[in-house]
Amino acid sequence: MKALTWQGKRKVSVETVPDPKIEAANDAIIEVTSTAICGSDLHLYEVLGPFMEPGDVIGHEPMGRVVEAGPSSNLSEGDRVVIPFTIACGSCWMCDRGLYSQCETTQVKEYGSGAKLFGYSKLYGSVPGAQAEYLRVPHADFGPIKVGEDLPDHRYLFLSDVLPTAWQAVQYADVGEGDALAVFGLGPIGQMCARIGRHLGARVFGIDPVPERRAMAQRHGVEVFDYTDETNDAIRDATDGRGPDGVVDAVGMEAHGSPLGKAAHQAVGLLPDALSEPLMEKAGVDRLAALHSSLDLVRRGGAVSLSGVYGGEADPMPMLTLFDKQIQLRAGQCNVKAWIDDLLPLVEDSSDPLGVDDLVTHRVPLDEAPGAYEMFQKKEDDCIKVVLDPKAES
Ligand SMILES: NC(=O)c1ccc[n+]([C@@H]2O[C@H](COP(=O)([O-])OP(=O)(O)OC[C@H]3O[C@@H](n4cnc5c(N)ncnc54)[C@H](O)[C@@H]3O)[C@@H](O)[C@H]2O)c1
Ligand SMILES: [Zn+2]
Ligand SMILES: [Zn+2]
Repeated sequence: MKALTWQGKRKVSVETVPDPKIEAANDAIIEVTSTAICGSDLHLYEVLGPFMEPGDVIGHEPMGRVVEAGPSSNLSEGDRVVIPFTIACGSCWMCDRGLYSQCETTQVKEYGSGAKLFGYSKLYGSVPGAQAEYLRVPHADFGPIKVGEDLPDHRYLFLSDVLPTAWQAVQYADVGEGDALAVFGLGPIGQMCARIGRHLGARVFGIDPVPERRAMAQRHGVEVFDYTDETNDAIRDATDGRGPDGVVDAVGMEAHGSPLGKAAHQAVGLLPDALSEPLMEKAGVDRLAALHSSLDLVRRGGAVSLSGVYGGEADPMPMLTLFDKQIQLRAGQCNVKAWIDDLLPLVEDSSDPLGVDDLVTHRVPLDEAPGAYEMFQKKEDDCIKVVLDPKAES
């Protein structure tokens, strides 16, 4: 079959790889009909290279049709399914508590990581990914979400990652009716965080340096801002000087820091110079620009929800701010299945309350994936979300 493979830093290619086969009684094989590129794939493309092998198949946002179902998989040939990006057993101590991304059956103990993920490096189990014609789905007795036949793929596809990730992020930011929410980063995750915030009755501020991403958010009732040194003050002014009740960081470790980023500099400024300089160089405070801005912006006693992926082990955190402002901080990989009962009715609702019809900017054949990665990473051609179609000819 054809699949998108990692070949080196900023280098991916479509190659012919062996077809996947059933390996356990609860496996299933699906023929992929739609499979998206995610901001998380850009971390593999850029900084997670040391944990990748040339030839690894990437991708973790698929849906398709079952072509082979293991005898204890709960699925039948022909079922239309969305596959969550986190692989969980559904019945261990963690799964019993809804913490599916920490599943103790699939945890990657060798690297001290949580549950296995599709197509996400050795750190997450080297499971062949989903930007491919076919996918082996382990634990198919629990993971796959069966969906109806009437709506197009893009209505359901984002149940694999974007929608539950955004839903969890907003839950962790602890906002609802009448609250104020700020979202840093208006990529697909931030877009959906902002819309979910609006759906739950919050006033939502969205911050992103990219104009077309701000324009998309604005179409969905979000008050938008560029990322500048004045942004946090402007949002504070709009919230009685206190700051929003909850803030989501939907940027992650490839943040574009403003070199004069006030919050980041304030944070480093808390350290003596001799210490802060090497820290700036080695740990790259710039990468944490959005996180530091989130901590600066949230009101006292509010919640910061980290949905962007961070990887540093020695990143400096502004402990004084965290402590003094009494900030609640929650983070983590999404527990996809925990939120599907909330989300499925919303994506099937004909009034499209989360605006799922307005997210995909590009649908291209799988063969064109390398160019699509480059376009998405460089944010060319107003690219916000790319869906790959393994069945289309280029
Ligand atoms: N927790 C999870 O389970 C989970 C799941 C999926 C994705 N993610 C992570 O969420 C993050 C967002 O994913 P995405 O697909 O939306 O990616 P994306 O790369 O499309 O979006 C990131 C956005 O942040 C913006 N940005 C960069 N620096 C900024 C700054 N300083 N302030 C404000 N905005 C800034 C960029 O312009 C871009 O629009 C990534 O880190 C991804 O790995 C986490
Ligand atoms: Zn993803
Ligand atoms: Zn489990």
